[in-house]
Amino acid sequence: IAPRRVLGIETSCDETSAAIVYGTPTDMRLESLVILSQDVHRLFGGVVPEIASRQHLTGIVPAVRTAMTDANVSFDDLDAIAVTHAPGLVGALLVGTSYAKALGYTHNTPVVPVHHLEGHLFATLLEHPEAKPPFTALLVSGGHTLLLDVEAWGRYRLLGQTRDDAAGEAFDKVAKLLGLPYPGGRPLEELAQTAQSPVHKHPHRFPRPMLRKSAEPGDDDYYDCSFSGLKTAAMYAVRDAEKAGVLDEQRASIARGFQDALIETLAEKVARAARRHRRTRVVLGGGVACNRALQEAIRERVAPRGTVFAPMPRLATDNAAMIAAAGLFRFEAGERADPTMTAQASLPI
Ligand code: KG4
Ligand code: ZN
Repeated sequence: IAPRRVLGIETSCDETSAAIVYGTPTDMRLESLVILSQDVHRLFGGVVPEIASRQHLTGIVPAVRTAMTDANVSFDDLDAIAVTHAPGLVGALLVGTSYAKALGYTHNTPVVPVHHLEGHLFATLLEHPEAKPPFTALLVSGGHTLLLDVEAWGRYRLLGQTRDDAAGEAFDKVAKLLGLPYPGGRPLEELAQTAQSPVHKHPHRFPRPMLRKSAEPGDDDYYDCSFSGLKTAAMYAVRDAEKAGVLDEQRASIARGFQDALIETLAEKVARAARRHRRTRVVLGGGVACNRALQEAIRERVAPRGTVFAPMPRLATDNAAMIAAAGLFRFEAGERADPTMTAQASLPI
């Protein structure tokens, strides 16, 4: 089949991103990727939706123009424009979908709506052509914690998810308690690395909710997870250490204890899913997938039967390359946006 060139546009949260992908669904390469990260949200310790929309408005045109220039292509060279239409912040998504529709109309180019989470599943493919279905997928970001079985592109089965906080949200909240900047996942991982004692001996061992060894497939705690209790346990540990005047010495240990508990839970659920569905590949996505300790814990449990693929940080966090990649697949499958296509805050994958 003929190679296609797709412009991807992503504005679902706090990254304004545009990218060009060229190829076929089984062999694609990234020609350019522009990501404008909205640092302004750091000032508020979280994403402020109204500010995000306004920044997308100022960023989207230069982002697309730069992606086109970097790839050295013009609008005539595009076969399709792929845009994230759901899920996400509705005002943020509207900037991308409106702009994509306007571009498509002006240049007579088909527009393809893409589900943001499907995009995350395609991210790794741009680096590792072997990261293709069937596989077990773990998507862990500031907003999502999903465990999926991917039988084929487009055939996704949701196995489990978080009951409360997303994994990244838990990282960010505990990082804040420890006085780390937002977003706190990476600083917390770095702090945890400085904890002195070995994993099994360090003073902070937090509960691992929903990690019953005797859980069976069909039990609701077999694949689902919950992190709010862990977050509360970390909060008490910080408070106790503060009262005892030893918070400075214990910060790394608390970070390590929190990270160990969260990782062990996720790694066990991924291993269960891979085993039950006899998958030999595991694909990770979302910002928390950048966490090295998480990657290693999953590798340890899935090896020697399986291979774990984690995208590079630029492709793990929100970006338009993954949207262009998923869009290329959707375009080949005949998907086109009709004129009523618009942003949707929530939509199951
Ligand atoms: O996918 P992403 O960029 O944005 C969405 O939330 O959609 O993910 C951001 C999340 C934040 O919660 C951030 O703290 C977390 O990913 N994160 C990490 C690491 N790097 C980013 N969490 C743990 N360890 C990391 N190394
Ligand atoms: Zn995302």
